[in-house]
Amino acid sequence: MLSLICQKNAKILPQLLCNVRCASKSHKPKTAIIMLNMGGPQTVDQVGDYLHRIMTDRDMIQLPVQSKLGPWIASRRTEEVKKKYQEIGGGSPIYRWTDLQGKLLTEALDQMLPESAPHKHYIAFRYVPPFTDDALQAMEADGVERAVIFSQYPQYSCATTGSSLNAIADFYKDKKQPNIKFSLIERWGTNELLATVFADRIKEKLKLFDGSVRDDVMIMFTAHSLPLKAVSRGDTYPHEIAASVSATMSKLQVPNPHRLVWQSKVGPLPWLQPYTDDAIKSYAKKGVKHMILVPIAFVNEHIETLHELDIEYCDEVAKEAGVKQIERAAAPNDHPTFIAAMADVVSKHLTTGPSVSRQFLSRCPHCVSARCQSSKEFYKKLCNYIECSKEM
Ligand code: FES
Repeated sequence: MLSLICQKNAKILPQLLCNVRCASKSHKPKTAIIMLNMGGPQTVDQVGDYLHRIMTDRDMIQLPVQSKLGPWIASRRTEEVKKKYQEIGGGSPIYRWTDLQGKLLTEALDQMLPESAPHKHYIAFRYVPPFTDDALQAMEADGVERAVIFSQYPQYSCATTGSSLNAIADFYKDKKQPNIKFSLIERWGTNELLATVFADRIKEKLKLFDGSVRDDVMIMFTAHSLPLKAVSRGDTYPHEIAASVSATMSKLQVPNPHRLVWQSKVGPLPWLQPYTDDAIKSYAKKGVKHMILVPIAFVNEHIETLHELDIEYCDEVAKEAGVKQIERAAAPNDHPTFIAAMADVVSKHLTTGPSVSRQFLSRCPHCVSARCQSSKEFYKKLCNYIECSKEM
């Protein structure tokens, strides 16, 4: 994967990577960038534990008698999910992409902000190693002065970023907080450069359509769905996804129609619709025969793009439905504008703050979770909200 990544960026990467290696880690890092994400199994052997952790995480999913039902569902699904990882090459590329993104981001930050350099990234996954706890321990051992907790889900949900943030709160529950200046970036889905990357990824695919149909191609933004229970509670995820779609279309400036659809529903309860596969079938019946799928909620390739979108929907569902041409836009991955987007978000945060946003500190209108309440209080304290929330 790394060799593929390097070929695509032959002009800029060698110098950047050399700089990273040279700068890296001969100097003690001053600023930590903690990159939160769910992670994915790097080998099929990790699939069982990965599913077990997801199905027992009540921030991610709520099931009746979860301590029993969660592990039961995880073990029932393990073989089927292992097969899917085998079909995409034997594991998830999330770690490799995140590590490369972190290296390029910190290299850019070292140049942009010498006052907070050296910057060092720490990968904090929720469901596979390196876990959130591993990242916090490594960062403390390095003796950093400040730490930016940076969600790699650009659009906030209490089920995803919220879960990772609760894991950090759990880590410090019975521990003395270290003498590190913490701050938090929990959402950045409308960053202009991020919208530009998504628009570029769509343009790359629009070019593949014949000029006679290009303006009619249906652009279908697709994001992981969410249980309607969470939507009704007031989770901000649906409108943040919609805001990313709108920002992307403003950058794209094409006449094509577009829609937002939802994928990856699990279990029998109702989730946000329309589902991506149903939308492909319905449009095909209506005579829409050219489409692009755009994963709008993840910053790198993962099982839902490489398997669900590429294999299940593009290769199987669309063909069966009679779609003439369907393309899938690449995730941001190592697009140079994506590295610039991350650097833009983090550098603005480091220089002008706030250390934690009021939006994050507020709760969903129908949230009754004591865990959410204590987590918000924890972040007020961790990020020194009262004393200097505006000064950083
Ligand atoms: Fe959203 Fe508690 S579920 S703040």
